[in-house]
Amino acid sequence: MQSSFPIVPESASTFSGDVDALYFYISGITIFFTTLIGLVIIFFAIRYRRRNAYEIPRPIEGSTKLETLWSVIPFLIALSFFVWGTKVYFEQYRPPKNALEIYVVGKQWMWKFQHPTGQREINELHIPVGRKIKLIMTTEDVIHDLFVPAFRTKVDVVPGKYTMEWFEATKPGRYHFFCAEYCGMNHSGMGGWVEVMEPKDFDNWLSGNLSQVSPATAGRGMFESLGCVSCHGANAEGGRGPALLGVYGSNVVLSGGQTVTADEAYIRESIINPQAKIVNGFGPIMPSFQGQVSEEQLLQLVAYVKSLSTAKPETRTAKPPGLGPAQSANPVGSPK
Ligand code: CUA
Repeated sequence: MQSSFPIVPESASTFSGDVDALYFYISGITIFFTTLIGLVIIFFAIRYRRRNAYEIPRPIEGSTKLETLWSVIPFLIALSFFVWGTKVYFEQYRPPKNALEIYVVGKQWMWKFQHPTGQREINELHIPVGRKIKLIMTTEDVIHDLFVPAFRTKVDVVPGKYTMEWFEATKPGRYHFFCAEYCGMNHSGMGGWVEVMEPKDFDNWLSGNLSQVSPATAGRGMFESLGCVSCHGANAEGGRGPALLGVYGSNVVLSGGQTVTADEAYIRESIINPQAKIVNGFGPIMPSFQGQVSEEQLLQLVAYVKSLSTAKPETRTAKPPGLGPAQSANPVGSPK
């Protein structure tokens, strides 16, 4: 699928037009000045060539006016690249709040997707047109990079952390995506297709794949099978460990007095490396689950904790009486 301009891929997201405009602006200015300087060099080489063997050129003092001009003009042009580029960058790298969240795990050499309703896909991603899509991404092994040329966006997936990528497709179609970070032998084959569908087709597609368990429900199951319930409570209401109801998106006070926002990265770290940030009022008693849960399972646990806050936002500070994070009567290291 090509656009009218042959070397540019199809333009199919809300910001692909902006990226193209900036690209053509920078390319246009580069071509203009390269041509201008090239022609001037040729012109001067002919015009001021040495005409006889004994010719001595007239001494030149230099010109402040000219030098100022050829410093200030390029400076302003370079600044315009920066300002415009920053605008496009911020648009792309600040995901919107009301987006449909899809979990992505990269792995040598495939892309795995999971929808909030549970549908899983490999190297295929079905999305509705005209809807903001936010990808929450990580990798099981090395760094990869999810690049969708038609959407003009690409973001790395990095071991041990979550990165975000978002887009809103503007027209239905099938768009190629690639891995854009060299990741080993089959790097070049690590790609697939984004299938952008009309909303009703997308709903049909979703309901045709209903047999699957949502990430939050799967996370709930792991929460039980891994024994999290013994400290965080059967309904994550808290106990020897902090309550998880409503924790996602809230500000958590730590034992050192600092505050962190409980985002996906914080939840992930608290499972893999629980000692890194101890909630105020609780002891460092939680074991690490490093190596016991895969990246996909971690995302499911994160989805479960997130679901606890959307379901019951009013229980944001829920905690068992007399054992809350706000009270430090319970000495660190000696749980009830
Ligand atoms: Cu994955 Cu290159």
